[in-house]
Amino acid sequence: MDFYANIGRAEAAFAATRRRFLISRNTLAVFVLSVVATASSVAAEKASVGNSSPAPLPPAAVVPVDFARDVQPMLSKHCASCHGPEKQKGGWRVDIRATALKGGDSGPAFVAGKSAESHLIQLVAGTDPDKVMPPKGDRLTPAQIGLLRAWIDQGAAWPDDGKSARTRSEHWSLQPVPASVVSESVINNQLAKHESALKPAKRATGSPNTDPLVTSPIDAFITARLATNGLAMSRAANRVTLIRRLSFDLTGLPPSPDEIDAFVVNKSSRAYEELVDRLLASPHYGERWARHWLDTVRYTESQGFEYDRLRDNAWHYRDYVVRSFNADKPYDRFMKEQVAGDVLEPVTSDGMVGASLLVCGPWDEAGNSQANQTQRAITREEEMEDLVGTVGQTFLGLTVNCARCHSHKFDPIPQEEYFRVKSVFDGVKHGERGIASPSEVKSREETIERLKREMAEAQDLVSRLEADS
Ligand code: HEC
Ligand code: HEC
Repeated sequence: MDFYANIGRAEAAFAATRRRFLISRNTLAVFVLSVVATASSVAAEKASVGNSSPAPLPPAAVVPVDFARDVQPMLSKHCASCHGPEKQKGGWRVDIRATALKGGDSGPAFVAGKSAESHLIQLVAGTDPDKVMPPKGDRLTPAQIGLLRAWIDQGAAWPDDGKSARTRSEHWSLQPVPASVVSESVINNQLAKHESALKPAKRATGSPNTDPLVTSPIDAFITARLATNGLAMSRAANRVTLIRRLSFDLTGLPPSPDEIDAFVVNKSSRAYEELVDRLLASPHYGERWARHWLDTVRYTESQGFEYDRLRDNAWHYRDYVVRSFNADKPYDRFMKEQVAGDVLEPVTSDGMVGASLLVCGPWDEAGNSQANQTQRAITREEEMEDLVGTVGQTFLGLTVNCARCHSHKFDPIPQEEYFRVKSVFDGVKHGERGIASPSEVKSREETIERLKREMAEAQDLVSRLEADS
């Protein structure tokens, strides 16, 4: 499987979904801002009455401003002590989006697109020397005021509820994957150094304890990194150890005595590769590795929760995963089948079974049979969190579900986005369904039709024979 390429494609698909979400977000922002702008033009007029000869303002910065990076930290450092959770001087609170936009006792603090007319800018710039913000301590520098102006002029985007407006992360795990961590030339160098070792004649005679051989870019990658730390590879294991390790790794089972003997005396220069191929081809390979996948997607054969009834037909999904590993199914296909297999055209049996991932989780029978509608709604929310969490953790390596109750503390996932992802899966219901593909259904129906016709003909014949007798 080509994991990198396929993960890349999965990311692109997710990015495309996000892009769709963002459109609706922008529409919403434009709506909110236009409401704010209408409300604040009144205040701007009011404010301009007392400012007949305003002092010049520092110019707006000419760079794109990011609220979470440039603006929010400034506001929280210089303003929140008097306009935050504890105090709201002048009736204005700046740590929450809604109140910051609404403004204080004298109206909106800023007008999107119009920084020069914004009360906030006039206050921080000290247009009226008697009214300067902050009133004590360090004033904002002209550069900081320039950033605030640019932010307002660029539309005063405030991407979140304001409690945690992180919209991006510097964390390494959220950066694009580089093509290769070790440069091509380092790998080629390492490979060249061990070129002679690659020659079949030499390898065939090599005893199990010769120095490790660099036979692939992966080996080169590892030795290059080891070398920078003054380390070298361990000696190669002997053949008995090697076949035992490989068998457990790939199939979860020990090799038989016969298999060990055959490998130890195998003189082929490709004995090791042949062993790997044999084990990869074993049906136990899929069984062994499917187990890890089934853990990831929280597969069980009962409902979990109070009554914990058995799910008699869950094994279809288990077998599907085993089958997919053994067939070396491309990762992108494997992923699509499990996230949306039942709507992938053409509909296949694997697609319908694969989508079971969405409902592998616990089923709260007591919660779902509550008479109280609110209780049932809560149960459903828990179910959806489990579903979004599993999809996020399995395919993105992210706990998207943490953002259900508060914007994510560490990953750039605002609460709003949790509900956007949730809405994608909102139609998912628990239950059992047929798993035959449409063509299988059709041929089954045709067979039934034919048999019924034959039965009717036979019945007809029997009736006539009985009538004659
Ligand atoms: C030490 C406390 C303090 C700090 C820090 C502070 N302010 Fe103020 N702010 C006040 C007080 C007091 C008022 C009310 C002044 C008045 O009504 O005349 C006020 C009023 C305002 C108003 C007008 C609210 C309204 O509608 O009447 C705005 C806008 C404002 N501040 C912005 C800021 C900004 C932006 C910062 C940070 C750069 C900031 N303030 C920092 C104390 C503070
Ligand atoms: C069902 C709702 C819910 C979910 C889901 C949830 N949280 Fe929370 N979280 C809360 C609440 C409520 C608080 C505030 C608790 C308090 O202040 O006493 C909180 C607080 C926190 C805090 C402390 C915040 C601070 O500023 O001190 C962290 C960190 C946190 N959550 C992380 C997570 C992580 C990680 C996840 C996912 C594994 C998660 N949360 C999922 C409801 C939730």
